[in-house]
Amino acid sequence: MPQLHPDLPTAEFKALGHDVIDLLADYYAGIEAAPAFPGCKPADVAALFDAPPPEQGESAAAILADWRDKIIPNSSRQGSPRWFGFVNGSGSQIATLADAMASTLNPNCGGWRASPAATEIERRTVRWLAELMGYVSECGGVFVSGGTMANVAALRVALCAKATWNVDMDGLQSRNGAGRMTVYMADHETHVSMVRAVDLLGLGRSALRAVPSNADFTIDVQALERMLDADIAVGMTPFCIVGHVGSINVGAIDDINALANVAARRNLWLHLDGACGALGGMLPELQPQLNGMVRADSVSFDAHKWLGVPYEAGCLMVREIAALRRAFAMQATYLLPAKDNEYSGDNYFDYGPQLSRSWRALKVWMTLRYYGAEGIRTFFRQTIVCAKHLHNLVDTSDDFEVVQPSPLLYIYSFRWAPKELRGNDALLDELNQQISDELQRRLIAFAMTTRIRGRVTQRLSICSHRTTTADIDATFQAMRVIGQELLATTTAHHPERSEGPV
Ligand SMILES: Cc1ncc(COP(=O)(O)O)c(C=O)c1O
Repeated sequence: MPQLHPDLPTAEFKALGHDVIDLLADYYAGIEAAPAFPGCKPADVAALFDAPPPEQGESAAAILADWRDKIIPNSSRQGSPRWFGFVNGSGSQIATLADAMASTLNPNCGGWRASPAATEIERRTVRWLAELMGYVSECGGVFVSGGTMANVAALRVALCAKATWNVDMDGLQSRNGAGRMTVYMADHETHVSMVRAVDLLGLGRSALRAVPSNADFTIDVQALERMLDADIAVGMTPFCIVGHVGSINVGAIDDINALANVAARRNLWLHLDGACGALGGMLPELQPQLNGMVRADSVSFDAHKWLGVPYEAGCLMVREIAALRRAFAMQATYLLPAKDNEYSGDNYFDYGPQLSRSWRALKVWMTLRYYGAEGIRTFFRQTIVCAKHLHNLVDTSDDFEVVQPSPLLYIYSFRWAPKELRGNDALLDELNQQISDELQRRLIAFAMTTRIRGRVTQRLSICSHRTTTADIDATFQAMRVIGQELLATTTAHHPERSEGPV
C-alpha cells in the first residue's frame, strides 16, 4: 500500500525548502521594479488554472514552476512601494518566514495543551503591543483574522457587558430587554466592517447610529450627546460608542478623551476602531491625539496593515480580561481532555470567536523582536512623511484640490481639479475615476478612489515601508499627466463640458 502523504527524506525536504526560498528571494529582489498591479484580466487568469483535480501526485518542481510562471505574473504586489490600494501591509520578510514556522509546528492556538509556547507568545505579544501603544498592559487580548472580526468581537463583548439580561440565553429577543440596543459612530467614515458587525450580531443595521461629523471628519461629540438623549427618549438602549483611530479615507482620529468622558458619564462601552491607526500610539508625537486610548474599554487594530505582517493578523484588546471571557467562554465536554491540574493553562477559545486557531501571534512577535520598537517607529514615520509630502504637493499645486486636513497618519485623499473644471463636480468625478483607472492600466501604481463628502477623490494608503517620497512624486506626476491628457480630450470633444458648474 502506498503511504498517504509520505514525508520527504530530510535532505530532500531541505532541498525543496531551498528552492522555495529562492523563489521568495527572487520575488523580494524584483518587488521595486515590477508593477504593483499585474494588469491581468479575470478570464485570462481563470484559463491559466483551468485544470481537472489532480488524480496522481505531481513533482514539487512542477508545482513550483507554476508559482514562478503563472502565479507571480498574475499577482498584485502588495509589497510594492507603489501599492497604495485598500489598507494593505507590505509584508515583513521575517514574518513571512514566521508563517512557515508556525505552519510547521501547527499548534491549535485554541487550547493551552495544544499550544503551550504559542499561547504564551500570543499573551506576551498582546502585552508588548498594549505597552508600546499606551493601552492597558494587563488587558485581555486575542488575535483574530482582521479588523472586521475584531469589531464583531468587540461589539459582542460590549453587548454582553452592557445588556441587563442574559444575552447568551435570550440573544436580542429577551422580553426583559429594554428597547433597541444601539451603537454610535461618526457618519462620514463609518467603516463597512461595523455594518458587518451589526449584521452578524443580529442587531440590525438601523442599530448603527450615524453621528454627524465635524469638518475634519471626526465625530461631533455634542451631536453625539444630542442623539443619545433623543434615542433614549424614544426608548432605545444605547450601549456602545465606536471611536475612530484612523478612519479609512482620511485617517481621522476622533477626540478620544471627549468620547471617553461621554461613555463614562452614561455608562456606555467605548470601543476604538484602530484598525488603521491604533499602532500610532507607539509614536510620542501622536500622544496629543492618542493619549486617551488607555481609557477605552476595547481597542482593535490590524498588524497586517501598518505593521506590515502578512495576512491575517487583526487584534482585539479589552481592558477587563473578564469581559472578554464573559463574551466568549464556552463549555463542552470534549474541549477539556483532563481534570484541571498543573498542566492547565488559559485556553484562547475562551477569549475569542474561534475554537481552532492558527498561530497568528508568532509573525507579530518575530516582527517586533526583529525590528524593535524603534525600528518600527522609524518605518511608521517614513509613511507619515510620505503622506505629508503628498499633501504638500497637492496643497501647492493649482490642478489638485485639498479635501482633508494635513494627514496625521499614512492615509490621504485628494482630488484632481484643474481650474478649468472647478465647480463641474459631475465631470470631475468622472475624470478622477478615469485617472485612477488609467494609473492602474499603465502599470504605474495601484491607487484607488473613494468618495469624500459625496465627491470622487483619489485615495492613497501609503502603508509600505518600501515607499519613498520619490514614489509619491512619480505617482503624483503620472496622475497630473493623465489628467492633462483627459482634459485635452474632454475640452476638444465637448468644449461645453468645461464650462463651470452643472
Ligand atoms: C477603520 C477600519 N476598520 C476596520 C477595517 C477592517 O479590517 P479588515 O479588512 O482587516 O477586516 C478596516 C479595513 O481597512 C478599516 O480601515
